[in-house]
Formats: sequence, structure tokens, C-alpha cells
Amino acid sequence: MKGAQRMGEANSSYYRKKGKRIYSDFKTYAHSGKLLAQANAKEFCEKFGGKTSGEANFGNAGGSGGVSKDSVLVAEFGVGNGKFVLDFLEEVKKKDATLYARTHYVLFDFSERMLSDSQKTLAAHLEKCEFVEFDASNEKLPAEFVGKINYARMNELLDDLPCEFYALENGEVVEAEFDADGRLTGFAGVGGLAQDFEGVEDGAFENWDEEKPKSALSGIGEADAGQLQRALLAEEFLQRVGEGYILPFNFVACEFACELGKALAKDGMCDIFDYGFASAEDIVSQPSHMWNENIVREFDGQLTTDLNVPLLCAFAKSAGLKVQAEGQKEYVESVLGKKVSIEDTKYSRSARGIGESDMFYHVRIVR
Ligand SMILES: C[S@@+](CC[C@H](N)C(=O)[O-])C[C@H]1O[C@@H](n2cnc3c(N)ncnc32)[C@H](O)[C@@H]1O
Repeated sequence: MKGAQRMGEANSSYYRKKGKRIYSDFKTYAHSGKLLAQANAKEFCEKFGGKTSGEANFGNAGGSGGVSKDSVLVAEFGVGNGKFVLDFLEEVKKKDATLYARTHYVLFDFSERMLSDSQKTLAAHLEKCEFVEFDASNEKLPAEFVGKINYARMNELLDDLPCEFYALENGEVVEAEFDADGRLTGFAGVGGLAQDFEGVEDGAFENWDEEKPKSALSGIGEADAGQLQRALLAEEFLQRVGEGYILPFNFVACEFACELGKALAKDGMCDIFDYGFASAEDIVSQPSHMWNENIVREFDGQLTTDLNVPLLCAFAKSAGLKVQAEGQKEYVESVLGKKVSIEDTKYSRSARGIGESDMFYHVRIVR
């Protein structure tokens, strides 16, 4: 079965069933320590603290009480047991009690169980929290939040969303297929990618630029243009690493992140934390058979992969958003102004022995 369908089915049933028991199958960086939350809280206080009534961007979003005109709206997606929220809110409360009082926090997750576990974790902060069941892989952000989110954050959500996997074989783009344990079962020819666009005039994409794909693609129907843009991106990435490497193309995740970026309030920002790769060197530093063996990883029925950070950045730029990527460690060190070690977080290695800790990235999207 193709990767996107495999991941969609596996992760939907896994998370809905498991709730906070996921943490006995794997650890997340945010769950293992407070460094990320502390860095986020520090920047949040610097950006939104010290404002008085009427200066915040937030309107009357949200369905819960406690929302006023000068509230600052924070939205988190894929919240797990709510510890990333808790660490953030406690740090904000410690640093800036006034801003804490103005903060309204919306937790989005597709697992009702996760949301109810989060409610327990956040017992001391419930008056400022709102819990929304939401599937990031196929739902539009509820209209009441569009244009209202001052700060969005997420940790290790995008790597779980349905993802397509492509490789180059004898110069052709092929799509990888996997079994329920995330093991590669073979390749299928790609009907929906480049081959479908043979009719496009030669040279139509000569001046193609990832920052302006819309103009480069003008004249082609909108649906086709989207598909072609994906094909071109996939081929371009694959050509950079050469034959035999299976790369994840997290298109669903990229689209979600862009929708979210566009739903930010003026001057809003979105912080995405995830493991993945940021360059061709990250990939080709491993032989292809090792890379491919670990590209989909299974944890008691859950399937996860790497976030293709350059793809996400290309999508965000195409959507007219400002985007920046860096290592998580660099982010934490530059914000907190001290040296940190990822080992400080007790982040455990994956079931298949990959050191994921050195592949952690921070992507910031600004509207
Ligand atoms: C790996 S856990 C990370 C949890 C938490 N952020 C942390 O760092 O500990 C992924 C979280 O995303 C949620 N999730 C996975 N797929 C989702 C989807 N399609 N829509 C919304 N939430 C999703 C899961 O229920 C879970 O809470």
C-alpha cells in the first residue's frame, strides 16, 4: 500500500485508541524536557508582553469563556498529553503574569482521548484553555480562528501526517509502497506525476522558481498546476540525491502548515518542531539501503517518517509566507543564551536504533 494511505490509516487508529499511553511506545523531545517550551515562552513574552488593552491582534475567536479583546491567541496542534502546553503556560505565568492572564490557548488534536488526557494535565490552567477536535490531514481550520492566531506551535505532528514516498529508478520517478509495519514492499510506477504532463509545452518551466511557481505555471488549470508543481518538486529533490534513495514528500503536512501560516493574525508566527532532513547531505551521508530501511518507522502500530524541511520551506515561500529553518539545538541555544545538549532531555532513540536527536529542526513561519 502507498505510504500516504498506510500512514493515514495506521496513525488515525493508533492515536485515537492510545491517548497518553503513546509515551510508553516512544518519547518526544517536548515530552522529555522543558527547553523548547522555555525558549518558546521567552520569545512569546518578548513579542506579546507589555501590551495594553486594545493592542493585541486577537478578536472574538473561540467558543469558550475568558476571551476578551486584548487576549492573545495561542494555538497548538497535535498536543499529545498536553505537557508541551503546560510547560509553556507555566513559564509564561512565571515571566509575565499580565500576559499569562491575557493568553487564550486552543489545543487541536484529532484524538478525543488525547484532548481529554490534556485536560487533566492542564487542570491548573483550564480557564484559559479550549480543546478542539481537528484532523490536520483533511480539515480546514475552523473559520472562527482564521486571521486570529497570534502564535501557533506544534511538536512532532507533521511527521505523522499521511506522506508520499518517491525515488528515482533508472531515471524514472517511482512511488514506494509499505506494509503495515512500515517495511518497504516495492515500487509502483507514478501515474499521477511527471508522466501525466508530457503534453506540457517544452520550455514551459524553464524559468521555474520555487518562490514564484504560480506565475511560472500560469496558463495551466489550477488542479493540474498543483499536481505538476508536486511532480517537479519531487523530481528536483530526487535528482539532488540520485538514484535509489526513497524520500518522503510530506505534501499533506506542507499544505496544512501553509493554511495555518495564512490563518495567522498580522505579525503572527508559527513554530514547527520536528525531526527530518534539511539538505541533500543529510541524506547521502548514509548509504541508500540504510536510509531506505529507516524512512518509515513503526512504534506499536504507529507509523512515522521524516519531515522534508526544504519541501516545507518551498511550500511556505510559494504561499507568500516568510520561512526560516534551523536546528532545534541552535534555536534553543540562541533564545536561551546557553549551551544545551539534546541528551539533557533524555530523548530516547527510536526502536530501530536511529539517533533521531541529531535531526531535529525548527521551522518558523511568519505571515
Ligand atoms: C508524536 S505525538 C506528539 C505529541 C506532543 N506534541 C509531544 O510532543 O509530545 C503526535 C500528536 O499529534 C496528534 N495527531 C496525529 N495525527 C493528527 C492529525 N491528522 N490531526 C490532528 N492531530 C494529529 C496525535 O494524536 C498526537 O497527539
